[in-house]
Amino acid sequence: MNLTGIKRCMLSSALALSAFCTPYSAWAYTPTPEILQAREDFRDNGFGIFIHWGIYSMLGSGEWVLNDPKIYHNEYKNLAAGFYPSNFNAHDWVKAIKDSGAKYLCITTRHHDGFSMFDTEYSPYNIVDATPFKRDILKEIADECEKQGIALHLYYSQLDWGRPDYNPIGRTGHEPNRDTSGNWRDYLDFMDNQLTELLTNYGKVGAIWYDGMWDRDEIPGGLDPELWNLDAQYALIHKLQPSCLVGSNHHMTPFAGEDIQIFERDKPGENEAGLSGQEVSKLPLETCQTMNNSWGYRIRDNEYKSSDELIQYLVGTAGRDANLLLNIGPRPDGSLPPQALERLAAMGEWMKTYSPTVQGVRGGVVPPQSWGVTTRKDNTLYVHVLDNDADLVFLPYAGNKMLSAKEFATDKKVKFTQTPEGIILTLPKDRKPSPDYVISLNFKNAVPAPQS
Ligand code: GLC
Repeated sequence: MNLTGIKRCMLSSALALSAFCTPYSAWAYTPTPEILQAREDFRDNGFGIFIHWGIYSMLGSGEWVLNDPKIYHNEYKNLAAGFYPSNFNAHDWVKAIKDSGAKYLCITTRHHDGFSMFDTEYSPYNIVDATPFKRDILKEIADECEKQGIALHLYYSQLDWGRPDYNPIGRTGHEPNRDTSGNWRDYLDFMDNQLTELLTNYGKVGAIWYDGMWDRDEIPGGLDPELWNLDAQYALIHKLQPSCLVGSNHHMTPFAGEDIQIFERDKPGENEAGLSGQEVSKLPLETCQTMNNSWGYRIRDNEYKSSDELIQYLVGTAGRDANLLLNIGPRPDGSLPPQALERLAAMGEWMKTYSPTVQGVRGGVVPPQSWGVTTRKDNTLYVHVLDNDADLVFLPYAGNKMLSAKEFATDKKVKFTQTPEGIILTLPKDRKPSPDYVISLNFKNAVPAPQS
């Protein structure tokens, strides 16, 4: 089917459409030099903080609370009139994020509940028009990011649990009174209009971070990029901001036009959470992960990972050539939970010494091992020993003369033997337990990427 056929198909009943629009078609995408540079900058940044915040935070049950079929959208909407986050302070948020060593912030501008956390002309259901707070928190955050040198990425949900033009509905958002009388084409226009606002009114945007396409995965043809108008929408993004990256948390291998591959709750190549079975592409990679077990604020969730675990997680993603996007769910009053602040500070303390081994580097030539991972930059290979009990480490890497091995933090020499099979490091017996014991190995020639 040609493009016109597909467009015609999109205008007909959406369910009938999905039956005709497979197999998925691809279009050509040649990233511009600006995009190629932005992808490398993104990789160099290595570590970002994710923020899930919306009116749902008032209910303290996470951002999916409206998916409960007993909560009616018309009732939920009234939360907006009570949303007054009196302790919100963009400067303090961005400062805490910057002090953690993170280089970018990705914030939910509109989640599946459909509430826009920014000033938009295209829906009255937004933080400026529908709440007594009336402040465009996104503008305040964008300005602070600009001032403090933090890149701004914007999460944008393609799934909407309330709009009549999000039609047909997918596998979520089934409340009995739901109005689905609208037209999908209008919804696509609505998204284009909001994205235009986001990319026009908030300064430089590092990336648009889509989520929600997976909602249609049980509808035949529901994941067809043509149905979601991805080619035109990605082109619009790149036209409005030529160096803005596009990533989508659709849990599939990336479509043409995407610049980042996203993994939810798993490092690339792992699939414990069950959403990351897709092949790992050559694009820049990013793992998003929670600090506790929730994205949006959940009052009962006190199961925070320890600071050491989070540091190890960051190192583990860097060793797999991926960025870590670590989430915080602010409280309804606009404050970041103290448990989160404590962890940001601890990570920042660690980063003061070790950031050169996890930022501005790439995954090391040696793939992840039972004792830890490696990262590389030029002629240096950083060996991250995450296992405090390891006393010998073997690196299956040969063919590059090794000149020295030193403890990264102190420059103290570490004993090594280089054989035709690889390198053996003897770790000092008296080393203190730490989340990550880092040794830098210096070689005669540049250290290459892992062979795939
Ligand atoms: C999922 C969830 C969503 C969360 C996101 C973060 O797709 O639907 O609530 O925003 O993952 O990765």
